[in-house]
Amino acid sequence: MSPIFSADTPQRFPDNFVFGGATAAYQVEGACQTHGKGKVAWDDYLAQQGRFSPEPACDFYNRYDSDLELCERFGMNGIRVSIAWSRIFPNGGVGEPNPEGIAFYHNLFASCRARGVEPYVTLHHFDSPAALYANGDFLNRDTIDAFEAYARFCFDEYPEVTRWFTFNEIAAATLNRYVEGTWPQGKKGCLHECLQAQHNMMLAHARAVLAYKQGGYPGTIGVIHALEYKYPYDPACPGDVQAAKNDDVLQNRLLLDATFRGDYAPDTLQIIDHLCQASNGSVEFLDDDLSIMRRAAQLNDCLGINYYQSRFLKAFDGETDLHHNGTGDKGTGRWRVAGVGERAVRPGVPTTDWDWIIYPKGLFDLMMDISLCYPNYKQLFITENGMGRKDQLVDGTVDDSERIAYVEDHLRWILKAIECGVDVGGYFMWSLQDQFSWTNGYNKRYGFFYVDFETQQRTPKASAYWFKRVAQTKRL
Ligand code: BG6
Repeated sequence: MSPIFSADTPQRFPDNFVFGGATAAYQVEGACQTHGKGKVAWDDYLAQQGRFSPEPACDFYNRYDSDLELCERFGMNGIRVSIAWSRIFPNGGVGEPNPEGIAFYHNLFASCRARGVEPYVTLHHFDSPAALYANGDFLNRDTIDAFEAYARFCFDEYPEVTRWFTFNEIAAATLNRYVEGTWPQGKKGCLHECLQAQHNMMLAHARAVLAYKQGGYPGTIGVIHALEYKYPYDPACPGDVQAAKNDDVLQNRLLLDATFRGDYAPDTLQIIDHLCQASNGSVEFLDDDLSIMRRAAQLNDCLGINYYQSRFLKAFDGETDLHHNGTGDKGTGRWRVAGVGERAVRPGVPTTDWDWIIYPKGLFDLMMDISLCYPNYKQLFITENGMGRKDQLVDGTVDDSERIAYVEDHLRWILKAIECGVDVGGYFMWSLQDQFSWTNGYNKRYGFFYVDFETQQRTPKASAYWFKRVAQTKRL
């Protein structure tokens, strides 16, 4: 244990702390075109790739009640779910809402209530309706209008939901699509489009927040960002320091400034200019956008942080050179982006089979950074954190002690942040049950509950039993 933890560091979480598991509609529901659901871009993309199918996923569309029964039995008092936009509005912005899709979520939320598991509901988890996606998604301002209309519809339709998040991981959605090229219609190194889409999605978030607050709904609303602390590989090397700042703006800072300031700090703008020049493009932030975003910035009730890893940045002045480790062959990933830097691993820092850096202290550094830089934040939730593994079911059980250690270390740093005065409301492990991973398929497992994807049988892993004790006692 790090010496930073003293005997005074609390070992107990607050009484009202939420412990749960996280899901996303597309990754769990299956039923991709059932009961009037419209297509998303992933449907055709995955079919063309032929690597794996999103059907039936975990068959959550039919099995949500038994999965919620597992949540209850394993001491969880919260669950993250998302609404599939194209189940409600099959074509996105136009047309009548789909009654069967609407009914599905009423039933899901009723089951949550009956099991005493609070639903934390995200409106958009990487699954824009296909028609909107094909027309530029959030680079097209019509999608911002469509998102606001969809959000208003959900706020009115689902009064049983009092915990809302607008977007899940705008950074992942934009980086994977415009910089890393690993998502449908992907491009590489297109930094200005990535930044423009981030801004437009934050404008859509702001408009949904204003709609929620103007509507006087009695709940909370926020956004979920995938944050990574960006450390210079060598803090004494100015090029590494600059690379860390570049990557910080690309992944974190534009989004955090937009969330809590409603505009961009001079330092952020300077790096945005630099990134745009590097990809020969520009971004447009309209004055009207900023005035909407500034109003919304004071109204967020909470911020969700998805934290998996941090990064160590080296200076890099070559051509963009990327290789996505989508197979779990350790050491095959490469991330060098012109104008940004090179992501490297400091010696001695452990990584997963997918080359994700295991660095729990980064979560603490991020929480402290937010509380210092954005004192108008109200409450943080750790809305995702977890470890992808090639879990094996052996003799009816899964020994995932490595995952337990990972989660325990992160929870310890959360306690440290609480000791330092940061308001943290809950922790959701990614993921509740094993789910497919967008670019890695079914062999990267994260769940508390092992899923046999042939039979859909669930088996609690060692981590589920461990987490049950933590959730029930609120102690590590
Ligand atoms: C987050 C997402 O990016 O991380 C999830 O919100 C995702 O949807 C999770 O599955 C893990 O990422 P991956 O690429 O390992 O599936």
